[in-house]
Amino acid sequence: MDTIIINPNKKEEMITAAEIIKNGGTVVMPTETVYGLATDALDPTAVEKIFMAKGRPSDNPLIIHISSLEEIDSLVAHMGEKAKKLAEKFWPGPLTMIFKKTDLVPSITSGGLDTVAIRIPENEVARQLIDLSGKPLAAPSANVSGSPSPTKFSHVLKDMAGRVNAIIDGEDCAVGLESTVISMVEDVPKILRPGAITPEDIAYIIGEVEVDESITLGLDSTKEALSPGMKYKHYAPKTKVVVAHVSKEEYLKKLKENKELGALCFDGDLDYIENKKVSFGDEYNPLSQAEKLFSALHKIDDLGVKKVLARAPRLSGVGLAVYNRLIRAAGFNCIFSDVNIVGLTGQTGSGKSYVGKILEELGAYVIDCDKVTKEDDIYPEECLKLLQKTFSYDIINCMGKLDRRKLGSYAFSSKDSTKKLNEIVLPYIIARISDIIKKAVQDGKKMIILDAPTLFEAKADELCDKIIVAKADVDLRLARIIKRDDLSVEDAKKRMNAQKEEKFYTDLADFIIDTENTESVKEQVQEIFNKLSHYRK
Ligand code: TXA
Ligand code: MG
Repeated sequence: MDTIIINPNKKEEMITAAEIIKNGGTVVMPTETVYGLATDALDPTAVEKIFMAKGRPSDNPLIIHISSLEEIDSLVAHMGEKAKKLAEKFWPGPLTMIFKKTDLVPSITSGGLDTVAIRIPENEVARQLIDLSGKPLAAPSANVSGSPSPTKFSHVLKDMAGRVNAIIDGEDCAVGLESTVISMVEDVPKILRPGAITPEDIAYIIGEVEVDESITLGLDSTKEALSPGMKYKHYAPKTKVVVAHVSKEEYLKKLKENKELGALCFDGDLDYIENKKVSFGDEYNPLSQAEKLFSALHKIDDLGVKKVLARAPRLSGVGLAVYNRLIRAAGFNCIFSDVNIVGLTGQTGSGKSYVGKILEELGAYVIDCDKVTKEDDIYPEECLKLLQKTFSYDIINCMGKLDRRKLGSYAFSSKDSTKKLNEIVLPYIIARISDIIKKAVQDGKKMIILDAPTLFEAKADELCDKIIVAKADVDLRLARIIKRDDLSVEDAKKRMNAQKEEKFYTDLADFIIDTENTESVKEQVQEIFNKLSHYRK
């Protein structure tokens, strides 16, 4: 088949693409998530061409793309209030909602189900194609079934040239992962595929929402897939990928020990790795991981290694969507650490210590990192000398002891001096914490919690294989710290404002605990405790 290339900036070429759709042909279009392979969703013969071009199993239903909310009425039997709220907030955008379908939707489009998936994309070129053709467009990701989804024109060309009538040469996809898929059919809506719109985003609009377990754990063979797409191996390069549920420290060690392994790592890891490597974004910015993951997966086969060890993204927020794709690319192959080393952090007054206490009751070994930093002998002579030289000689008092208050007054006077302080002391703090961890492991502890308000600032997150964040509403936190530390409202607010905002923490969490309701905290902690043991050998 001849495939023509369409320049989206030329109206007459876009009209040609629309004509192809009207005549029952196939056109690959860019969307903000991934490139989609589009045809007229209501023409069964046209839709069949999608399944042929992709080599897609026929029981895997397609998403119908429309450009405005009015078009939905003829396709779905009933929308409902919650769906209307989500549509208002997130459409156009990377959200797909599933409803009971009308008879107008052919059974081939819905994979034989009585439901249909609908999305209004934001990408202008996609919207133009829908409008110019006047058709709702069925469009799965424009890759050969099983391989990584395309986020660049070059990816599409590799997979689809010769298999479709036209490809639109659009821009790179801004989001880079497929849309969040949520079923609106059940009483409590259920997320079947995570995406850039997170469970937290959705819960904020409609309250309760469920997340299908198979997203992180894979399908247990006794269960039926709610979203048929979830049962197939997906996104996989030819090279074997293994996801490492271990700390950054442990990950780097494993690569050092085996130079044959390739690395699928974060940008910041590259300098520490001598193996063949490709990175997929910033460890501390899950959106950048979303944007880059598929490109990285496309590059893996060029590394020329047999096996690639991948770092695990975080299990919450957008990280969950990245993790979901990666774990499927790996065919659910993972390695785990022998002992869970878990960071516990959050804003002041977030209820972190309470969570630590419950974890302790459940048998975890909790290290209070704040206390560790205040141990008398934590800084050796050479470190104290350097601190004196950097800040002032009077940080050591007449008893020869470190005057922490004085040191603080110099070191916290500017961002620059705080940075200097950290550069000097952090290696010693990390070394001490590492020693305590080593001893706990020798003592047979299976779960070790690093309770640290400045976990990330201290880079202690590099020692952790999973991270728990405690959170609570601003007013509640304020009341808690006023009571706990006997502060004035003003001082308490000052202290709170000096910290990073909640999103900074929750974006980097694997597990988030809302401590507002003391009773439910125990349940939440127990649930996480159980899940953690899944991430242990
Ligand atoms: O971002 C996206 O959603 C991209 C772009 C092109 O819009 N499209 C996309 O389509 O990812 P596809 O076909 O690769 O993935 C659709 C997913 C599959 O996992 C499928 O099983 C699920 O949505 N799905 C579609 N209709 C469904 C239904 N009625 N019930 C349950 N799951 C459904
Ligand atoms: Mg797909």
